[in-house]
Amino acid sequence: MAYSIQGKTVLVTGTNRGIGEALVKELIAQGAGRIYATARNPATLQALVAQAPNLVVPVQLDVTSADSIAKLAKEITSLDILINNAGIVNSTTFSGEDALAIATAEMATNYFGPIQLTQALLPLLHQSQAAAVVNISSIAGLANFPSVGPYSASKAAVHSFTQGLRAELRKANIFVQGVYPGPVDTDMTKGWEMEKATPAEVAKNIFTALQKGEEDVYPDAFARQMADVYNQSPKQLEQQFAATLG
Ligand SMILES: NC(=O)c1ccc[n+]([C@@H]2O[C@H](COP(=O)([O-])OP(=O)(O)OC[C@H]3O[C@@H](n4cnc5c(N)ncnc54)[C@H](OP(=O)(O)O)[C@@H]3O)[C@@H](O)[C@H]2O)c1
Repeated sequence: MAYSIQGKTVLVTGTNRGIGEALVKELIAQGAGRIYATARNPATLQALVAQAPNLVVPVQLDVTSADSIAKLAKEITSLDILINNAGIVNSTTFSGEDALAIATAEMATNYFGPIQLTQALLPLLHQSQAAAVVNISSIAGLANFPSVGPYSASKAAVHSFTQGLRAELRKANIFVQGVYPGPVDTDMTKGWEMEKATPAEVAKNIFTALQKGEEDVYPDAFARQMADVYNQSPKQLEQQFAATLG
């Protein structure tokens, strides 16, 4: 299914910085009709809203809060595209003392949040003539990147959520896209010494893929290389990521 952004009503989570902010800027550039830009603290959205005050509607949303999700669902009257972008990472391995607490927090934000938000907004998506859900997973969701082991597990959960939701919503004609970025230059990767894609490039590639109807998106050069390895041999990607621990 090919898909157009033009005139669509879109909600993006976690838009006050990073990939979320870049997604909103790209949506403005591509002619979206209305953009619900969400943030835990909407005051942090002022500069973004100022770019297109008639298009961008700031909305408070903490994806870990059922009350916040219920409130948002009442505020919104129509929706074509939901982008589950908000996420957190901690540089912790499974052997770390705090692994369980961190894994719990990462699952709450990265996995349970998108499930709960998607459920709350599904009635609106069902009313749309051209609905889509875009889930931002990670290349670390396809094979565990051990320096961020618990985070990788939360992104593997997002990958599986994406597959299941896609199967469930196929008959309703709601397109479900999974996005698997490599390292992107945002606050999330501050201090990580590696080559990184820009958030703008990633945002552009996500929408190009959406317009082509691509279900699985590798929006940067590193992700594309790793996806090639994965498609040849999932075991080889596991071993390649394992080797990064030294
Ligand atoms: N950067 C990368 O290399 C990379 C690679 C693969 C996948 N990803 C994924 O891409 C997505 C965006 O990441 P990013 O790099 O743009 O990270 P970022 O710059 O750290 O931004 C994360 C965003 O998520 C929001 N957020 C965090 N917890 C939230 C919550 N409970 N409720 C609502 N919003 C919340 C943050 O808002 P606050 O300001 O309120 O904290 C912020 O807007 C994430 O899902 C991440 O896992 C990133």
